[in-house]
Formats: sequence, structure tokens, C-alpha cells
Amino acid sequence: MSSYVFEKIAPQTDMHVICVHAEEKNSTLSDMLRGLIKRHEFKAEEDTILMHQTPDETILLMGVGTPKTVYDFEKIGASIFKNTQKWKEGKISITVPEVNHPDQLAAIMSGLALRDWRFDQLKIKTKKTVNNHNYTIVTEDPTAATKAYAIFDAMVQGNQATREVVSLPPNMIYPESYAYRIRDELTPLGVKVTLVDQEKLKELGCNGILAVGEGSVKDSYLVILEYNNGQASQAPLAFVGKGVTFDTGGISIKPSAKMDDMKYDMAGSGAVYGLFKTLALRKAKVNVIGALALVENMPSGSAYRPADVITSYSGQTIEVLNTDAEGRVVLADALWYIQKHFKPQLIVDLATLTGAMTVALGSEFAGLFSDDEKLASQLIEASNFVEEKLWRMPLHKAFDKDIDSTVADMQNTGTGRGAGSSTAAHFLKRFVKDDMKWAHLDIAGVAWDTKGRDLFEKGATGFGVRLLNRFVEQTLER
Ligand code: BES
Ligand code: MN
Ligand code: ZN
Repeated sequence: MSSYVFEKIAPQTDMHVICVHAEEKNSTLSDMLRGLIKRHEFKAEEDTILMHQTPDETILLMGVGTPKTVYDFEKIGASIFKNTQKWKEGKISITVPEVNHPDQLAAIMSGLALRDWRFDQLKIKTKKTVNNHNYTIVTEDPTAATKAYAIFDAMVQGNQATREVVSLPPNMIYPESYAYRIRDELTPLGVKVTLVDQEKLKELGCNGILAVGEGSVKDSYLVILEYNNGQASQAPLAFVGKGVTFDTGGISIKPSAKMDDMKYDMAGSGAVYGLFKTLALRKAKVNVIGALALVENMPSGSAYRPADVITSYSGQTIEVLNTDAEGRVVLADALWYIQKHFKPQLIVDLATLTGAMTVALGSEFAGLFSDDEKLASQLIEASNFVEEKLWRMPLHKAFDKDIDSTVADMQNTGTGRGAGSSTAAHFLKRFVKDDMKWAHLDIAGVAWDTKGRDLFEKGATGFGVRLLNRFVEQTLER
């Protein structure tokens, strides 16, 4: 990883990035640079670049168009990273003529830092393809920009923590090691972390979590997070995450092609973990709680079976028709736990819940399910701000009826082939009390990216951390 600082004076270096703004006169550019721009008829539109190399220096002119939103500025930072990652190791100065606002400069640094993360900790002997640099963004007021960046830095670190746990292979991160990691990382930051272990889950009757974990030699865990840094009178926001560290499908086993993808079936819990890291790092004055259901879904002689009936923590019985519809079964207990032990003002759950979600929305949007108009619009607003996009999906009593069972209170799949994401959402809804505000985010299609995005290399995206950080800020901190 590189380092990033703001300085008033450009460092002594032979590597420079100059961002050229489309609308401004770039009055602070030197005559030499203005000459270059003119000679090459350089358009300062987004993604236009011009390399000027002499024996002594490399100058990259980068068109940045007319950035307006925080995201526009983050994209500039990410482009700087993309365009310089292969440069020789050393100092790189970055000048952004006409941009002086500390928040805008901080957003550029945020994009640079977000793009500068890849999961390479397990590449021991193979050559690295990216160099470390010391990036210096030159500004009149480095103190103000540094201060503004502290807030972004918390988000960057939270997002990267999520991406790391989601990327780790399932032999290295399983319910217990994951639970310990969460406890060891978040406790020093002031988050109260309670590990509800297998013994305790039995005592409580969290048979949904236990049933799904039955087939695995690994113990299951429910991890409870509490970060109370707001006013005592403020009811907390609750976040619930699916943490299936590996989903083979169980006895209803998945085909072998692409089964390795299922290491990211814990991305919902990963996002909640990253969110708490962000909020605690930036010492947000908020009350938030979390519940993460951590299990491994394996086939074995002790695994739960299709046709089993489970008595969930809520007391409602579930007929298992497909052991691969396991996420909803573990979330049922986590949702119930959070309502039984706390009095949150609302609940948002995140889960890589259904393949059908990817069929419907691809990797551009996550599905948002909620009956609460206000909560839905607050989430969509936050999602547009950070460009972690949500698309509203339907809840309807017809989908609810579809999970009525002939032998139990409900079954864990719908009867037909259609609307799999909505029937899954309705299954969860049966574990949310009537007067509770609740939203479900199905992130199956967005948690892992196969092409690479503006701010991220391909791989884990950390989807949800930036979105929920913004949501918490807008809901509790305004
Ligand atoms: N973890 C999967 C959903 C998933 C699929 C996430 C692809 C990310 C990418 C989930 O547990 C699952 O297997 N769902 C089943 C439900 C079905 C059996 C009703 C599915 O979508 O096929
Ligand atoms: Mn599954
Ligand atoms: Zn799953």
C-alpha cells in the first residue's frame, strides 16, 4: 500500500500528476503546461490523459471534466491511482489546479486509497504488479484537508476491512476465526462484542442457526455488536448480516462450477462489521447495534435435511425444503435475537440471499425490500450519494402465501420458480414484528465484482459500508 499526504509545497520528485479541469482557465498552470495542452489539443474531459516524458521527469496531464459530487472527486483519485500504479517506486506529486475545498481534496484522496487495495496477502512468491508510492496532494491548506480526510479515512478502512474478510478463503475464515477477528478488531475501538457460542445458542433455542451449521465440523456463532456513543435517549439503529463463511448448499448441494464463489456468502455480515469499524474509527455520536449469524453450510452425515422441521428462536416452525436456502434460516434467528434483546428504532439486514437477485438486477444494483416508504427513500438517497446503488423490489401478500407450508408454519422456499428474491424477503419478514421498521438488502449480485469498478479492482467490493455509513450520518447525525 502506498502513503498519502497533503503538503503545501510539492515534494522534490520527478513524477507529477496534474489534473486539468474542463471549465476553469487553469490559470495556475505554468506556461509550459499550457503550451502542452494547446499543442496536443488536450481536452480536459474525464479520462483523457497526456504523458509528457523527458529524461528528467514524467508529467501526466489528466482531464477531470467538471467534477461536482463527492463521488466525482473520488473517481479522480481512483483514476490517478490507475494511471500511476506501474510507475517506478517513489514520490508522486499531485496538483489539482482550481480545486481548494478541503472536502473535495479529501474525496480525491479517498478514491486513491480505495482503489489502492487488492487482496495479495496470500501471494508469497509471485511477483507483485503494483508499486508503492508516496502520493502528495499539493494544497494551500494541508491542515484543513488532512482534517477533512480523517472522516473519509474511517470509511476507507471500514470498506477495506470488509473486503479483506470477504476475500479470505473459507479454510482461513470460518465462523470461529471470523468471530474472534471481529472481537479483536472492534473491541479496542470501543465496540462491545458479544460472542454467542454454540452452547449458548442451544440454551437459547436458536435452532435455525444451529441446524444450518450442523453439517459442518466448525461451530456456529452469533456475534452481537453494540456501539453506544450517542445520547442515552436515542434508540439504536440495528444492522443484521448473513455470514455463511462457505455455502456448499448442504445436502441440496450446489453444482461444482463456480462453487468457489460461495466464499463471499458472508458479505452481508462483512458489511456490518466494516460499518462498525468505520463508525467507531470516526467516533460517530450514534447508537448502533448489530447481529451477525456466522455458519458454514456443509453436507455430511450430521447435516440438516430437506423435509426437516426446525423450531426457530421465535417459536415459529420452518419446514426445510432446500438446504441451500440457508441464509434466511440463520437470519430468522438473528433478526429475532435483535428484537428480543434490544429496542431498535429500525432494522436493516444485508445478505447475499438469492441467485435470483443477480438474475433480476445483475451487478449494478442491490435489491431493496421494505414496506416503510421513509426508510426506503432514505436508503435510496444514501445509495445514490455513494454510488452503491439500490433498486426497490416488491413485497406482496401473494409472495408471503407462497411460503406457507403444509406441515409447519412456513417453508424455506417458494412453491414455483418465480420471484425467488421476494419470497426470500417475505420469509425474513415473518421474523420482523409488525410495528418494526425494516429493510432487507439482497446484495448477492454486488458483493463481488468480476470486472472492476470505478473505485475498486475486481473482487470483493465492500458493498454496504459506504452506503450505511452515509445512511447513519443522514439519519442520526444531522
Ligand atoms: N448464497 C446463495 C445465494 C447466492 C447465489 C449468492 C449466487 C451470491 C451468488 C443462497 O444461499 C442460495 O443458495 N440461494 C438459493 C435459494 C434457492 C434454493 C431457493 C438460490 O438462489 O438458488
Ligand atoms: Mn445457499
Ligand atoms: Zn447462501
